[in-house]
Amino acid sequence: MRLSVIGTGYLGATHAACMAELGHDVVGIDSDSAKVDSLIAGRVPFFEPGLPEVLQRNLAAGRLRFSTDPADAADAQVHFVCVGTPQKASAYGADLTQIWAAVDALAPHLRQPTLVAGKSTVPVGTAAEMTARFQAAAPAGADVHVAWNPEFLREGHAVADTLHPDRLVAGVTDPVDEARLREVYAALLAEGTPWLVTDLPTAELVKVSANAFLATKISFINAMSEVCEATGADVVTLSKALGMDPRIGEQFLRAGLGFGGGCLPKDIRAFMARAGELGVDQALTFLREVDEINLRRRRRTVDLAREAVGGRFRDRQVAVWGAAFKPNSDDVRDSPALDVAAAIYTEGGEVVVHDPRAMDNARESFPHLAYADSPQEAVAGADVVLLLTEWRDYLDIDPHTIAAAMRDRVVVDARNALDLSLWRAAGFTYRGLGRPGA
Ligand SMILES: NC(=O)c1ccc[n+]([C@@H]2O[C@H](COP(=O)([O-])OP(=O)(O)OC[C@H]3O[C@@H](n4cnc5c(N)ncnc54)[C@H](O)[C@@H]3O)[C@@H](O)[C@H]2O)c1
Repeated sequence: MRLSVIGTGYLGATHAACMAELGHDVVGIDSDSAKVDSLIAGRVPFFEPGLPEVLQRNLAAGRLRFSTDPADAADAQVHFVCVGTPQKASAYGADLTQIWAAVDALAPHLRQPTLVAGKSTVPVGTAAEMTARFQAAAPAGADVHVAWNPEFLREGHAVADTLHPDRLVAGVTDPVDEARLREVYAALLAEGTPWLVTDLPTAELVKVSANAFLATKISFINAMSEVCEATGADVVTLSKALGMDPRIGEQFLRAGLGFGGGCLPKDIRAFMARAGELGVDQALTFLREVDEINLRRRRRTVDLAREAVGGRFRDRQVAVWGAAFKPNSDDVRDSPALDVAAAIYTEGGEVVVHDPRAMDNARESFPHLAYADSPQEAVAGADVVLLLTEWRDYLDIDPHTIAAAMRDRVVVDARNALDLSLWRAAGFTYRGLGRPGA
């Protein structure tokens, strides 16, 4: 099939390359010419394992093109909308500027009956508004239908999640649109991928409610962490015991510094804002607490680090391991690690940050912090080392090999991911979140 992907960021670049991998003829459109130039040259402008290979293979096969000109998308049979939906600058709601700009740019080029499938995460009701806008702006005869096909990929696993998703959700208003989406995903459906067909609002809600649930699960265990800190209990063991109950499950039940990134925080806030507009704000008031618990963990980590260096950061050197919002990504959007690093810097600490992949993005967002080329360089002369993003690289470091380089041997494991006994054996004072006895 001929497909277009509008917006080639983390989601769109992956979707475009993976749809070409399935054998489709794909054009990716992005308004950022630097991003488009990079993709044309076979370079993925962010870190995503396995994606460069898929991109290069499909560029070479001639199935994948990129352009800044929406006119190049004109003859696609299905247009996937993958532009950003960030939080508004000074409110909780989603900023849909990129969505409406994409609609306005694409609409005049549509000539034949067309399906536009939204993949961005949007407030419920957006698909209906998009339909009305296309009908008003597209030339007669274009007959634009809108479907919603939310995306569940995880950064760091984006290629596998796109080519082998755990489910595909198609919000449609017409069986013809469902048939067209089935054709797009025929190879995945042949593998047995569950296919859920629904109306537009349900499809929009599946994504935001999934993210609300995941955020709630993380904040639940982090709330237990606070109780553990008040009682001397150990949240790591508590979480293990809870997770063994199959009704609860162990995933997203790891206590630590909490969630961040370009999705969960802004999605739960946008969901609350939308619920308010719909008059059902009470249904989601609990998400305000989920958000608060999450942000409290960041403050608690700063407090633990301050205690660890003797009550104040001035004249103290703090090594920070991790800048990305999670391992296997270079995404620093709303990164808990950088939030903590910046707070310590603001209190006068000398902060030295290392990350295996996110250094460029971190430098761009927080140019005033100091950066080290290796985890070992970051800890040289440090009074404390903070593990803020649990990259494998850090978990594999033998603490004996860095102990001598530090001014004081203290580690704050804000992800509860290090081997406590190993660090203690190397002479470190170990502090973890929710582990007062540890
Ligand atoms: N990143 C993820 O893991 C992920 C997962 C599932 C869903 N989502 C959702 O997907 C959407 C995109 O997220 P992302 O992380 O890829 O964001 P992103 O910021 O990396 O990508 C958005 C892209 O859209 C481009 N763009 C903006 N306006 C445009 C326009 N008018 N025409 C063409 N291109 C335009 C931008 O230049 C950018 O490259 C969001 O709604 C997000 O919530 C993201």
